[in-house]
Amino acid sequence: MKVFLVAGARPNFMKVAPLMESFRARRDRFPELQPLLVHTGQHYDALMSDEFFRDLGMPTPDIHLGAGSGSHAEQTARVMVAFEKICLEHRPALVVVVGDVNSTMACAISAKKLGIAVAHVEAGLRSRDMSMPEEINRLCTDVISDFLFTTDSLADQNLLAEGCPPERIHFVGNTMIDSLQKHLNRALNTPLPFGLEAGAYALLTLHRPSNVDDPVALQRLFDAINEIAERIPILFPAHPRTAQRLAAIHLHDRVSVIEPLGYLAFLGLMARARMVLTDSGGIQEETTVLHVPCLTLRENTERPITCELGTNILAGTDPTDILRHAMRVLNAPAPTNRIPEKWDGQAGGRIADVLLAWLRLGSNIPAAQHSAPSQ
Ligand code: UD1
Repeated sequence: MKVFLVAGARPNFMKVAPLMESFRARRDRFPELQPLLVHTGQHYDALMSDEFFRDLGMPTPDIHLGAGSGSHAEQTARVMVAFEKICLEHRPALVVVVGDVNSTMACAISAKKLGIAVAHVEAGLRSRDMSMPEEINRLCTDVISDFLFTTDSLADQNLLAEGCPPERIHFVGNTMIDSLQKHLNRALNTPLPFGLEAGAYALLTLHRPSNVDDPVALQRLFDAINEIAERIPILFPAHPRTAQRLAAIHLHDRVSVIEPLGYLAFLGLMARARMVLTDSGGIQEETTVLHVPCLTLRENTERPITCELGTNILAGTDPTDILRHAMRVLNAPAPTNRIPEKWDGQAGGRIADVLLAWLRLGSNIPAAQHSAPSQ
């Protein structure tokens, strides 16, 4: 019995690794189970993909679709066509997708239209910002998924408010945090570059189209970031999309631009930073668990639990606001904050238990009417 676990882009890999491990660990109780790792190839650079597989100890993908970059329609279409072919060839009983990237939505749609059950890990997150491609991916994926695995209770509320049947929703915690907990000690042994000292630098990431595609918007962010650099050195591993656009931007000498980092090196840098500035989604969650202050350089977040309980501050994109929040963080003691419920390193196992219980009942039971035990 085949199960496809789909990964496409950098933020998927650390979410899929614990699932693969949990499925493999349960094979002795379910010998006919055959979990297969499918890489869509949305991210393909060694630094955006291979390094993550190595760091996370993930097996080589069983199937690689080689979809690559393109416009949203081109990329989504290429993944859909290639994924449909392998679904027809292998006839998996179940397809598991994670996160909110184009590959997530593309594979969910292809599978569902072939009548294959779909499970979405990290369901129910909503930014309410339809200019974000990820918001469209989240909505489309959730509405057709048979199993919706959520990371927090606010996501459950979003799904219920949209009319989702409660029996499809399973609050299981956060597989990204499973990976963080498993690898943190190794990450803390990675060297800090440029003679940086723990607690005495800030870490920056930027890649959202709304922040980096328009040079005026990007320079406005750097007006604030350059001021912050007067106070604390800033390390900036730049996403390829952003790196292409930095030549036109004025950067302070104390902003060090480096290539994208692997999982362990980045986690090690994040865990020892005084502050993180980012427009990423997952980093808002990781910094909350690491108790490192995070300024999110966006006007909204699909992860409000990290602001409610964690270290995240929605700083917006106005330079004055960003600078004000940064100075407040730098002048305050390190935060003490709470960690959301079930972000305990066990989410992958909970998900595997729900799905294997359903598969054992016989995947001839229509997935949308399943009665797998809720966690
Ligand atoms: C994608 C996800 C975003 C996620 C991000 C993490 C969507 C809609 N967006 O955005 O949610 O936060 O990944 O990185 O799925 N490129 C390379 N090498 C690569 C991959 C990309 O050079 O391995 C460059 C190409 O110029 C490409 C551009 O980056 O066109 C954008 O890549 P793409 O996968 O389309 O979106 P991301 O911005 O990476």
